[in-house]
Amino acid sequence: TKTRVTARAHTNIALIKYWGKRDTELFLPMNSSLSLTLDEFYTDTTVSLIEGNSDQFVLNGELQEIKEINKISQFIDLFRKVAGHQSAIKVESTNHVPTAAGLASSASAFAALGTALNELFELNFDQTTLSTFVRQGSGSATRSIFGGFVEWQMGTKSDGSDSCANKIDNADWNIAMLTIPVNTGKKEISSREGMKLTVETSPFYPAWVEQAGKDLITIKEAISQRDFIRLGEITEANGMKMHGTMLGATPPFSYWEPLTVKVLQRIREIRGLGLPCYYTMDAGPNVKVICQANQADQIKQLLDDTFPNNPTIISGVGRDAYILSAE
Ligand code: DP6
Repeated sequence: TKTRVTARAHTNIALIKYWGKRDTELFLPMNSSLSLTLDEFYTDTTVSLIEGNSDQFVLNGELQEIKEINKISQFIDLFRKVAGHQSAIKVESTNHVPTAAGLASSASAFAALGTALNELFELNFDQTTLSTFVRQGSGSATRSIFGGFVEWQMGTKSDGSDSCANKIDNADWNIAMLTIPVNTGKKEISSREGMKLTVETSPFYPAWVEQAGKDLITIKEAISQRDFIRLGEITEANGMKMHGTMLGATPPFSYWEPLTVKVLQRIREIRGLGLPCYYTMDAGPNVKVICQANQADQIKQLLDDTFPNNPTIISGVGRDAYILSAE
């Protein structure tokens, strides 16, 4: 049996967003989503069997508080239950994000932890099954099990067994993503709270669900035809529709900051220069841009000239979550 395993998972950025749960316990989404896995942003997590009956959690070298440990323990319990294992676990996690980007994500964190536990307990879950487990740590983690373009099918079953990820395409056709950090501080409204408020109060929410379903179909067509322009246009429109739902909530809220608006405007200008690039945003003010890999340096240069204090980070396409070492 194994005693110590290290896994790596890359973060992902949704092109068709996950926004809203139909079941908050099981993390079942209201709509299917589709993402691109990024190679520049990832989490390495080591799990080891320890003595005693309480789990330990060290994040970026810092011992975590009981509240954080409890979240992790609950997640580990999902794996302990199937494994019939009692042992306490020490979790040591390191987020690798380019200096000062502050864009650590729960997606890579839970995908790395789940991948490591699957190996430690020798559960032998295939990747799709594993994705249904990591989903219960954070919804977006479902998609970080795979590299490339990944779909998280919402599923229809009430036990969540069909709410899983699948790889759609390797994204090995000149694809890159840029991140323009606007504000890397902690956000006031978490995505969990934001989506809940939107589902419960925004009259725009039913329209979002309908649109997301349509956007998913067309983006999959664009991917299969390797039609970058169409892929970008759908991505940009879908992200904006998600942000639109929040303005309809009670109370209304938005993640946008003044600089966000300036960045979006600059992206449109750069596009006007004949460099196809399309933006999307998550539950925060930072902007992500999908572009063609061979134009990434040029677009970064244009953005850095305009926003010298917010240097753009270029990322290529990330691979599947994987085991780094096991003993
Ligand atoms: C806007 O996965 O962070 O980034 O499931 O509650 O942990 P929980 O939420 P989370 O939400 C991500 C929302 C999003 C869109 C996306 O990644 O699809």
